[in-house]
Amino acid sequence: MKTLNRIAVFTSGGDSPGMNAAVRAVVRTALHNDLGVTGVRFGYQGMIDNDFVELEDHSVSGIIQRGGTILKSARSSRFREYEGREQAVKNLKKQNVDALVAIGGDGTFRGATILNEEFGIPVVGVPGTIDNDLYGTDETIGYDTAMNTAMEAIDKIRDTADAHERLFLVEVMGREAGFIALETGLATGAELILLPEAVSHPDDIRNSLHDIFKVQRRSSLVIVAEGDETGGAVKLAENLKEDFEQYDMRVSVLGHIQRGGSPTAHDRVLASQLGSAAVRALMDGQSSVMAGVVNHKTRLTPMNKTWSMKKSINQELLELVKVLSKSD
Ligand code: F6P
Repeated sequence: MKTLNRIAVFTSGGDSPGMNAAVRAVVRTALHNDLGVTGVRFGYQGMIDNDFVELEDHSVSGIIQRGGTILKSARSSRFREYEGREQAVKNLKKQNVDALVAIGGDGTFRGATILNEEFGIPVVGVPGTIDNDLYGTDETIGYDTAMNTAMEAIDKIRDTADAHERLFLVEVMGREAGFIALETGLATGAELILLPEAVSHPDDIRNSLHDIFKVQRRSSLVIVAEGDETGGAVKLAENLKEDFEQYDMRVSVLGHIQRGGSPTAHDRVLASQLGSAAVRALMDGQSSVMAGVVNHKTRLTPMNKTWSMKKSINQELLELVKVLSKSD
């Protein structure tokens, strides 16, 4: 096993609240164990562009409560090419980096896995994405904050929906997964939740809404996951317009507000745990694994399983929505 003297840490892909807390945990754990820490700015693109920064204890002071990422983030097209990755590794070697901590989602982990396979550089992942769509961890860093942000926004939409007795279609993020939609929908008493994991035919949606309006006329909220097969809230509204004209339908796409803001206590604790666990895993000689939390315990999962295995939504919650949403 090669000696470990210096690690590099980076954030990549869509940022998520709590990434800073994770960076702080990585840096402080590494320094505590006499490892040097290089920060890579702008993820894989920064590796290619030689955008490195030395990280000390003070570099991560006062960031645990901040959203975004002090290391910046990017989606790099050059890294998809072998030449880009070769350049990235050359640059990392010049910085005397022995191993990497990659904070991000499935795209980040796919990149890290390729880097390890092609150049043998050890890499451990920390799950940072609001989508919560990674196998091997019950929750990803940023998910809890994003849910709470969405919940607060939807509560406000409910007030105005009530005032006008309108039907609102609210789109939440989640490119391929409905975790945010399901739990915020339940938490806000939404009448209907549409997510990629539960296929709904347009006629079923129409029937459900007609049923809902038969028992109540106050206001109705439909939460639509961005990745739902209906094509999102705007498209769905177009399709439903004629049938629900009398409800003066409105659409609200919450978008990137879900990615920002100060992380919740839950996300800060999760990020601290997992950032630290990732460094310890590298010190134990682990590579190509992701540090996650399963049943309240820190677990390492082979990195390729984090995207090749499907993390299922909680079907019980989906059933619960049908029972509880009847008279909100
Ligand atoms: O993966 C996180 C995420 O916020 C998704 O929910 C969303 O589809 C995507 O990123 C948006 O990416 P971008 O900020 O590049 O538009």
